[in-house]
Amino acid sequence: MTTLTADYVNPLVTTDQGFLNNPYPELARLRTEAPIWWCEQNKYWIVSSYADVQAVLKDVNFEKQIQTWKHAPSTILANFIPSIKFLRQTTSKWLLNLNKPDHTRIRGIVGKAFSTSTVEKLQPQIEELAAKFADQLDTAEQPFDLIEKFSLPFPLAVIGLILGIPLSDAEKLKSWSNQVVGLIGGQRDPKRLMAAGKAMREFSKYLEPHIEERRAHPKDDLLSVLVQARENNSSLSLEELISTSILLLIAGFETTANLIANTVVCFDKFPDQAAIFKKDFSKADAVIREVLRFESPAQSAPRLAKEDVVLSGHTIKKGDLVWVLMGSANRDALQFEEPDRFDITRDATRNLAFGDGIHRCVGAGLAELEATIAIKTLYERFPNLRVAGPADYRAPFGLRGPKTLPARVK
Ligand code: HEM
Repeated sequence: MTTLTADYVNPLVTTDQGFLNNPYPELARLRTEAPIWWCEQNKYWIVSSYADVQAVLKDVNFEKQIQTWKHAPSTILANFIPSIKFLRQTTSKWLLNLNKPDHTRIRGIVGKAFSTSTVEKLQPQIEELAAKFADQLDTAEQPFDLIEKFSLPFPLAVIGLILGIPLSDAEKLKSWSNQVVGLIGGQRDPKRLMAAGKAMREFSKYLEPHIEERRAHPKDDLLSVLVQARENNSSLSLEELISTSILLLIAGFETTANLIANTVVCFDKFPDQAAIFKKDFSKADAVIREVLRFESPAQSAPRLAKEDVVLSGHTIKKGDLVWVLMGSANRDALQFEEPDRFDITRDATRNLAFGDGIHRCVGAGLAELEATIAIKTLYERFPNLRVAGPADYRAPFGLRGPKTLPARVK
């Protein structure tokens, strides 16, 4: 049933720490009582059941370019604040935000770089990087923050390697990305939007000489592939080239970092499951799929209705904004038996953690490979790896992972 009153916590905007740490009871209530909920206060729909989330993601009548939504807070701000205008211009060219035919064109170029065979070739280098960051945990003062020492720098180094960005610039990239990544998670606060715009401008300026260098001397990296795609058939404008590189950097590491951290938290809460894994590391793939389902690093995604659409009996009007909740869908009992049980022996392949339809995550294979390598490396080297303090989860809810993760290996 649709409710028109704010009877439920809006997961996308709440900063309530109790909710953020365990949103699932409230999401279950939403799924049962109002799976397609019109949130009057924020003027958008929130869709939470597996069937409806998947239907929206697969339906071509639900599109991107959500900055054109009539209630978008940045629409008015962009008229007055140049940094927000710049932010809107750049993010509107993100693959993640494009509709056909631009989406098809750029996805074709980027998709090749993330194909299964290309990603598999990277395995030895990814293993080397994981080992390098794990080495540092041995000598780190105990307890340490696993996010700072391992789960963030490792995927950042991997995506830097793929794009061809020097490791020595990792700190700069991390800081820009921190300011911008909230946008993917649904950040709408004007001050943060301004900071994100400023970071995005610096990020763009930083990339320009790297692009120039690849034009003169192409290398064996993704930035060169993107530059050549532009050079050869002009199918990528310079703005698209820059915004695609930025998106890949951002989308490619914070989400994967959360997946690694969420796995360590799950194993700490469910030591019986950790014990099964530690006896058989070949289960790493299944572990990661179950963590993707149980604690989805990307919890939500937006769509705009291109036409009036009837979804499970509710009419979504043309121009309405819809947020789908993948993390809630992944806890739907109609799809997964005993969904609140963390069980690495179940088949969790149908999880929607990477989305579905034409925008399904282009880096899914890479993220899964990185995460399996990360947990094998960590638990092989440090079977006594344990969480050593409270792990509060971050706001906004859209990107799910702990703020810090105190841990010990000894
Ligand atoms: C655990 C890690 C990751 C998770 C949970 C995740 C999740 C997602 C989700 C849910 C979407 C679809 C959003 C939508 O439909 O609106 C998406 C799209 C995307 N992801 Fe990921 N992602 C992860 C890792 C990565 C990595 C490693 C990369 C690249 C290096 C990447 C690049 C992208 C890009 C470019 C898109 C846009 C695809 C398109 O619109 O066609 N992601 N991701």
